[in-house]
Order: sequence, then structure tokens, then C-alpha cells
Amino acid sequence: MQSNSGEATTHGHPRALPEAQSPQTASGKMQGVLQFLDAALHNWRAIRLLRERQVSHRSTDLASVERAYSSMSAREFRAVNGLQAWANRRAIPRILAHVPSLRPWTCVDLGCGSGDSTRVLLRHAPPGSSCIGYDVCGDRIAEARAHDYLGPNGRPARVRFVRQAIDEPLRNVEGFRVPEHSVDVVHSSGVVGHHLRVEELRRLGDEARRIIRPSGTVVLDAGPRLRIATLVETMRRCGFRRERVLRYCWGNPRGLVAFRPI
Ligand SMILES: C[S@@+](CC[C@H](N)C(=O)[O-])C[C@H]1O[C@@H](n2cnc3c(N)ncnc32)[C@H](O)[C@@H]1O
Repeated sequence: MQSNSGEATTHGHPRALPEAQSPQTASGKMQGVLQFLDAALHNWRAIRLLRERQVSHRSTDLASVERAYSSMSAREFRAVNGLQAWANRRAIPRILAHVPSLRPWTCVDLGCGSGDSTRVLLRHAPPGSSCIGYDVCGDRIAEARAHDYLGPNGRPARVRFVRQAIDEPLRNVEGFRVPEHSVDVVHSSGVVGHHLRVEELRRLGDEARRIIRPSGTVVLDAGPRLRIATLVETMRRCGFRRERVLRYCWGNPRGLVAFRPI
């Protein structure tokens, strides 16, 4: 939703715009297209160079995924993740705009990488929200820890990071399990649809059902390895109903699906 001032609003709560110009204006659209082309070019180059080193991150095998992401420098990861970062700035604010935001959220960001999705998530969460980011790759977690995270009011947001697989029971930084029904937003972007199989999604879905508040929202990404229909059906079996689907662009299997607990 857009207010007259150009700020996204939800349930009366002002939200910060993404760093880019509003995608609604002609110059904003042009800027978006140029950023997409730039990200696509860097992505293509980086993947070609990684292939020469026989590194491929396009896998659902956790050990291979960890090895591939760990063998990328920070710069290579930024190039590989550039299209995802482009999509994050457009899709995450739009899907979060429908989440009730009368009080701060407790969030988890599954497969946070170097923190791009976490940053967008917290910029569009109510002031005072907090997040734990999870990733299997230690180098990406170290980069994520080095960044600053701001809330919609420009004040620093509370964020912590934990290195672990996202289909395992989720733990906080002290190593205790995240308490039952304590989380308002479970989020993943660029992870589930690329790196998970149905059996891992099933474990993730059961854990999400355990930690989500009755009023909470789970946002997971679909992609080439795990399509929207499979995502929706698996999450239904875990006790969630589909609330909203947002494709990154028309006809694309990639996108975000928002779920509410049944
Ligand atoms: C394409 S990046 C997306 C990063 C971030 N969500 C973003 O949007 O910028 C995918 C990330 O998911 C992590 N990942 C993939 N499978 C995982 C798993 N099963 N458990 C934990 N992390 C995983 C990778 O290490 C990588 O950092």
C-alpha cells in the first residue's frame, strides 16, 4: 500500500521505502530495469568463473550447498546473490505489507546469507522488531554480523545470527530452542525454492508451526527446485493455509508465498 507521501503503510503504521526510488514512477521503473540488468550481468559472470573452479551452488544437498557458498569470496557471493537482492527489495516489502503491524515483531530469517534479506525485512517491520538470521555457511554469517541493520525509523534494529541448517530445530544464540509460539514472522528468500527438498521442507514446516504465534505469518520462497504448488501442499500438511502468492515476475516459478497457521 502507498500513502500520498510515498511511504508504504500497513494498518496505519508508516513503513520505510526500499533504498531504490519508488517502482511506481517512470524513473523508478527505469532504475529497476537497469539494476536488474546490472545484477543479471554480474550474476552470469560470477557463475561462469565459479564453474571454471567447478563450484556450483545449485544443489539440494546440504554439504554441497555449504561447500559451494563457503568457497565464494564476499564479492563473488554478492554477484551470485545480486538478482536475489534485487528481488528482495521489491517482493519482501510487498508481502510484509499485509502482516498486522500494531506491535514489534519477533522474526527469523532462514538462509539469511550475508544479511541482505534480513536488512530488508527489518526495514519493513514495525519499529522495535528483532530478528535472528540463520545460515549454514560460516563465512556468510560472519559477513552478516559485520553489517548494520536499521528499523523503519532509521534506528538500529536488534539482530543476531546463528549458524545452523534451517531444517533442524531452531536455536537462539545461547543454544536453547526457540520457544513455542514466540515468533511473529518466519521468513526465507532465495533458499527453500533453490536448496530444499520436500522432506526438508516438511521438517522446516513442522518447526515453523511449533514456533509461530497464532497471529503470525510464515513467508517462504518457491523456485526452480520447489514449486509453488508443492510448497503450498507441504505447508498445508504442516498446519498452514496459503494466504498470498507473490511472483517475482509474471510467469516466473520464483516468488514468495505467505502462510497463516490453521
Ligand atoms: C541465495 S542465498 C540467499 C541469501 C539471503 N536470504 C538473501 O535473500 O540475500 C541462499 C543462502 O541460503 C543458505 N542455505 C541454503 N540451504 C541452507 C540450509 N539447508 N540451511 C541453512 N542455510 C542454507 C546458503 O548458505 C546461502 O547463504
